[in-house]
Amino acid sequence: MTGDEERQAKLRRIYTKRSGLYDLLEKGSVFALEHKHKPEIKLRLRLCYPDDLEDILALQERVYDTIENKDTFVLTTREELIESLEQDTCIGAFDGELLVAFTLMVTNPGSARNLAKYLDYSEEKSAKCVTYDTTFVHPDYTGYGLQRVFIRLKDLIALNMGAAEALATVSPDNPRSLKNLQAGGFEIVARKEMYGGVERLIMRKKLSRRLRWERWK
Ligand SMILES: CC(C)(COP(=O)(O)OP(=O)(O)OC[C@H]1O[C@@H](n2cnc3c(N)ncnc32)[C@H](O)[C@@H]1OP(=O)(O)O)[C@@H](O)C(=O)NCCC(=O)NCCS
Repeated sequence: MTGDEERQAKLRRIYTKRSGLYDLLEKGSVFALEHKHKPEIKLRLRLCYPDDLEDILALQERVYDTIENKDTFVLTTREELIESLEQDTCIGAFDGELLVAFTLMVTNPGSARNLAKYLDYSEEKSAKCVTYDTTFVHPDYTGYGLQRVFIRLKDLIALNMGAAEALATVSPDNPRSLKNLQAGGFEIVARKEMYGGVERLIMRKKLSRRLRWERWK
C-alpha cells in the first residue's frame, strides 16, 4: 500500500460510521466564522498530515512569540508533532493555503501524552481516553471561536473512535483557553505541576452520544 492508500484506509476505518464526518475531514470543509468586531471569514478545516509539519511549527513559533506569560503555553516538540501527525488526530484551519490555527488530539492510547496516566486510571479505562492536546490560533484569527469549533470536531471524532472520556490541561493563568474548555463541557479534576515545573489544571469530560454541537453555540 502506498502512503496515500494507507492514509485513506486509516481514515475509512475511523470514519466508517459517519460518512459525513469522513467527507468533512478528508476533503476539508469550509466554516463561516463570526467575530464581534470584524467581518465574517471563511476557513477550511481539514486533517493535517506529515507534509504540514513545517507550517505547523512555524505557526506555533509565531503564536509563542506573542504570548506574554510563556509558562501558560508549553511548545509541542518537532518529535511529538511528527508522532502525532502519524498516529493521532491533527486538524488545521486554513485561510486559502495559509495555516492559521491548529489543534491536536492524542488518540493513540499508548502515547506518553495520554493524560490518563495522571489520574490513576486502570489500563482499560486509559485506553478509552483521548487527550485534547495543544491548540494555537494565529493572533490575526483569534476571536472567531476557533478553539470551540476544534473542541466540537474533536468530540465527534473521539466519539466515533469509541472514546469514553476526553482529557486536557490548561494553565490557571490562561483564562481564555480555560473558558473555552469549560464552555466545551470540561471540568477541573486536578491541579498539578507538570511539563517540567509549570502549574496545570487537568480537565475532563465524559463523551456521550447525547453531546450536541448546539450545546456550545
Ligand atoms: C487560546 C486560544 C487558542 C483561543 O483562541 P480563540 O479560539 O480564537 O478564542 P477567542 O479569542 O474566540 O476567545 C474565546 C473566549 O474567551 C474570551 N476571552 C478572551 N480573552 C479573555 C481573557 N483575557 N480572559 C477571559 N476570557 C477571555 C472571549 O471573550 C471568548 O469568550 P466569549 O465568546 O464568551 O466572549 C488562542 O488565544 C491562542 O492561540 N493562545 C495562545 C496559545 C494557547 O494558549 N493555547 C491554549 C493552550 S494549549
